[in-house]
Amino acid sequence: MKMYRILLVFLSITLVYSVAEALLDGKTQQSVNVICKKTIDTKFCNEVFANNLTTSSPSKKDLLNVTVTEAERISANTYFFISTLLRDAGDERSGLQKCAEAYEIVNTAFTEGVSFFNQGLYGEILKLTGNVSNGVGICKTDFNVPGYHINPMMEKNRETEVLVAMEKIIGHMVSS
Ligand SMILES: *[C@@H]1O[C@H](CO)[C@@H](O)[C@H](O)[C@H]1NC(C)=O
Ligand SMILES: *[C@@H]1O[C@H](CO)[C@@H](O)[C@H](O)[C@H]1NC(C)=O
Ligand SMILES: *[C@@H]1O[C@H](CO)[C@@H](O)[C@H](O)[C@H]1NC(C)=O
Repeated sequence: MKMYRILLVFLSITLVYSVAEALLDGKTQQSVNVICKKTIDTKFCNEVFANNLTTSSPSKKDLLNVTVTEAERISANTYFFISTLLRDAGDERSGLQKCAEAYEIVNTAFTEGVSFFNQGLYGEILKLTGNVSNGVGICKTDFNVPGYHINPMMEKNRETEVLVAMEKIIGHMVSS
C-alpha cells in the first residue's frame, strides 16, 4: 500500500512536468541551440523556451512570441524587485535608483516590443533592441546591496542582455 502511494506520487509529478514542458522536436531543439549559443547565458536562454513553448514544433514566430512575452514579464518583475530593494536601501540608494531608471527604459522598450509583435511589425522590434542595451548600460553594478554578497543586479542585467539578444536573433530570422 505504501509502495503504491509512492509510485502514484512519482507518476503524478512526472505527469505534471511533462505537461508543463513541451519536449521539443529535434529540428526545433537544434534551432534553439543555435540561437542560445549566440547569447551570453545558454542555460537561461534554453530555460525560457523550455518553460514557455507549448508545442513541440513551434514556428519561428512562436519562438519570437515567447521571447517578447517573457522579456516584458521578466523586466517588469525586475523593476518591481528593484523597488523592493530600494525600500531597505541605506547609503547605496543612488546606485539602485539608477537601476530603477534603467529598467524603466528597458520596460518601455520591451512593452513596445510586444505591441509590435502583435501588429506583425517584426522589423520594428529590432529597432528597440538599442533602447534596451542603452538602458541596461545605465544600471551599473559597482555598489553593495544590503543582504547580498553579490549585487543581484548583475544577474538581472545578464538576463536582460540574453533576452534582448534573443529578440535580435529571432527578429532577424522572422523579418528577413
Ligand atoms: C514562462 O515560464 C515561467 C517559468 O515556468 C513562468 O513563470 C511564466 O509564467 C511563463 N510565462 C507565461 C507567459 O506563461
Ligand atoms: C502569442 O502567445 C500567446 C500566449 O502566450 C497567444 O495567446 C498569442 O495568440 C500568440 N500570438 C501569436 C501571434 O502567435
Ligand atoms: C527608443 O529610443 C529613442 C531614442 O532615445 C526614443 O526616442 C524612443 O522613444 C525610444 N522608444 C521606446 C519604445 O522606448
